[in-house]
Amino acid sequence: MVFDHDLLQEIKSRADIVDVISSYINVIKKGRRYAAVCPFHDDHNPSMDINKEKQTYHCYVCHHGGDVFSFVADYEKISFADAVKRVCEIINFDDPRLHQHEVVKPVDVSIQTLYNCISELQKFYEYGLQTEEGTIARDYLKKRQLSDEQSSKFSLGYSLNDGKLAIAYLQKKGFSLKNIEDIGIALARTSGTADSNAGRLIFPIKDANGQVVAFSARKLTSGDDAPKYVNSPTTKIFKKEATLYNYHIAKQSAKHDGYLYVLEGFMDVFALDTIGISSAVAIMGTKLTEQHVNMIKRLNVEVRLCLDGDKPGQEAMMGIMATLDKAGISYRLVCKPGELRDPDEILKQDGEDKLKVYINTLVDPFTFAINYYQNYAPLGSMENRKKVIQHFAPVLANIKTKLEFDDYVYKLAEVTGFNVNAIKDYVEEVRKTKKDDVREDFEAFSSRYNYDRREFKETLTRLMKAERMILACMLNNKEAVEFYEKYIKYFTNDTHRQLANYLSEYCAKYNEPNASMIITMISSNDEENNKQSLIDLLTTIIDGESPSVEQEEEILKDCYKVIESEKAKTFEKTNVMKAIEGKDPKEQARLLNDYIKRTNDKRAK
Ligand code: UTP
Ligand code: MN
Repeated sequence: MVFDHDLLQEIKSRADIVDVISSYINVIKKGRRYAAVCPFHDDHNPSMDINKEKQTYHCYVCHHGGDVFSFVADYEKISFADAVKRVCEIINFDDPRLHQHEVVKPVDVSIQTLYNCISELQKFYEYGLQTEEGTIARDYLKKRQLSDEQSSKFSLGYSLNDGKLAIAYLQKKGFSLKNIEDIGIALARTSGTADSNAGRLIFPIKDANGQVVAFSARKLTSGDDAPKYVNSPTTKIFKKEATLYNYHIAKQSAKHDGYLYVLEGFMDVFALDTIGISSAVAIMGTKLTEQHVNMIKRLNVEVRLCLDGDKPGQEAMMGIMATLDKAGISYRLVCKPGELRDPDEILKQDGEDKLKVYINTLVDPFTFAINYYQNYAPLGSMENRKKVIQHFAPVLANIKTKLEFDDYVYKLAEVTGFNVNAIKDYVEEVRKTKKDDVREDFEAFSSRYNYDRREFKETLTRLMKAERMILACMLNNKEAVEFYEKYIKYFTNDTHRQLANYLSEYCAKYNEPNASMIITMISSNDEENNKQSLIDLLTTIIDGESPSVEQEEEILKDCYKVIESEKAKTFEKTNVMKAIEGKDPKEQARLLNDYIKRTNDKRAK
């Protein structure tokens, strides 16, 4: 293991799996159980069961499972060691032992090649900015008042007009055309492959670790009808819906600052950087996705939403508010009625001080919405007025202080034209009825759960069932492990056998089995190439019925008998198969018939 057992165990005792998973995805609680929509397959129901007691999770549909570290590793697609560090970041835990080893990232080799390739290209672009041809881009940056420091801080670049140069450069560095296509910049032309960003100013887009994963390329000329920005398509290393511009920098400073600005474009991020604010990300003109929300939520700071002041910008903010509400993120909004410009334009036209004032003009969601309806979308029809009441009733239902509540109700009455008392009554109704949608979800979940498990079990043979039952006992206590070592000795199923070996090894070292730590042991073993099957198996077993300690001895003996008889059968079958080898077909058929008859007779007894 990269880290020692005790350290990992200590981290696990602090990092509750439910809390950590909740910082990534929505977790539903029902009684003592927790469930979530599984992020590892295309799921629409909460199929993932999180076991707080065992500190493991398992999806009953795709059978993916693991512990707190493997969840983070799989979700973020990072190595085990990086996942351990990430978990520590999430729970704010630090320890010198975490920094003892320089961690090498054992990511998928093909992915690593793409990272290398795109990093080379980014360097080529950065170099392009310094060429004579790059003067046009440097002049543009000057015109937009971006300093050299900012240019290098954000790794800006320029792609030379001759788009074949970038391709040739990468090929010379040893990358194949396939690699180049896979990073999403190749444009097939009749004259050969060329860079789709040619002749443009380059904004590299980095992932949460600061690794370049994509580019956005702005045109430098006006007058033609070419698109303003050319953006990388989705690739193996770039998922637009899970990428926020400047997140890797903002995530560091936001925790210290206590806030995170969510902006519209790159230029706005640069504008805030100019006035000393680095806790800012840009959604790059798209909508805020669930993945974005999870990234933001993880920082656990106040979100300050600031899009353009014009109608589309304000409309988008209304939409994002709903998304943030749903995720339970606390936020305020930059709102100055009548201001139509974006932060970048304010900086350029009015200067730094005005921008500082502007981005600190913050209002709460409710005030923002009221303002929005008053200025941009007057509520004409009964339909719309009712919608607004319906939308805000749950917000109002959560307000604890009477003064604040009254204030809100009056404002709402003002924009909707409804009677104050009617609104109050409606909110009261919502307060009473709103709680139960979670339960419905959960019931659907538990009924499906039982059904699927039954079906799954029936497909297992007697032998497999017996082996799994023993494994279930072995996960519970070390007597079962000793029983296995002494009597069973080996399982016929490879994965079962490997898991049993891990259990033996763990108990020999640490005396007691510990399912969650065994998962950690497996996922940290670089030599293990059957990791996921082993972990999925382990979590499947944990989620199945677990035998009580009193029954255990009985169960072990029964399973032992099953295994012995099934092994004998298999042995006979193998012998028969050997015996018929090379014989003429008729003789083969006769021998096989005999064998089948024998086994049927045995079964009948
Ligand atoms: P804006 O049109 O507001 O761009 O779009 P901007 O950042 O202010 O850029 P300038 O000031 O015109 O240079 C906001 C964001 O939407 C995305 C970009 O990420 C941009 O930063 N966008 C916009 C595109 O992806 N493609 C486009 O054609 C336009
Ligand atoms: Mn702009």
